[in-house]
Amino acid sequence: MSSPIGIFDSGYGGLTVLRTIRQLMPQYDYLYLGDNARTPYGTRSFDVVYEFTLQAVRRLFQEGCPLVILGCNTASAKALRTIQQNDLPQIDPSLRVLGVIRPTAECIGQISQTRHVGVFATPGTIRSHTYDLEIAKLHPDIKVTGIACPMWVPLVENNEAHGPGADYFVEQRINEMFTADSLIDSVILGCTHYPLLLDKINHYIPAGVKVISQGEYVAHSLQDYLNRHEDMRSRLSLGGTLRLFTTEQAEQFNGNASIFLDHCVEATRITL
Ligand code: DGL
Repeated sequence: MSSPIGIFDSGYGGLTVLRTIRQLMPQYDYLYLGDNARTPYGTRSFDVVYEFTLQAVRRLFQEGCPLVILGCNTASAKALRTIQQNDLPQIDPSLRVLGVIRPTAECIGQISQTRHVGVFATPGTIRSHTYDLEIAKLHPDIKVTGIACPMWVPLVENNEAHGPGADYFVEQRINEMFTADSLIDSVILGCTHYPLLLDKINHYIPAGVKVISQGEYVAHSLQDYLNRHEDMRSRLSLGGTLRLFTTEQAEQFNGNASIFLDHCVEATRITL
């Protein structure tokens, strides 16, 4: 049996993280799980996101993953800490779950010159204040302005990222951010769907402002983690394979996944 790296997301967004991780470390086996039947998580309560995320993590463990990445900001914001502190010690203390917010918070210290940073994310991630807290721990001199973008995920999920509706909602949120703080020089895309809106975001963002997609930073942080943890690295199987699970119909997933990946996939439908 293989021991893949598990990557979880509420839907398709985590595929942007999977893609960059696989580009950097193609040697490992990967198992992606998208909870497409219950997406979006961004507007759900803390308790529900935690419950759904724990179900998915348990399933990935059962499938042989010794390490699971929550490739979803909302799940990382609302469920990661509780799973790490309360659930893992009971399930199996040798297993690991990592998120996407900490690696992004780490990188921002070297990027922002003005020390004014913006975060675009789902309403759930913004309400949790996880970005503010994580950045404050690492870089207390940075001022963070978070803007919730409830329409951005539906635009991507409905394949409208390049249409006029996307222009309207992207420009609206960018204006809101820079009205709140005109000194922002770096903006974090704190949702795994948002890199799909990058063309529109780059069009409306003020000149000179750096837009940070997480994939690259999460991938390098994972590589660094595995370099430092030989015990975990040696448990991962090296077949270079990718399997995908979805809680929705597989045909629908396969079609939409091609928006996020540059190749065809064949997913398997599962229930959690
Ligand atoms: N993938 C989620 C995130 O990164 C957004 C999608 C959702 O709301 O479920 O926050």
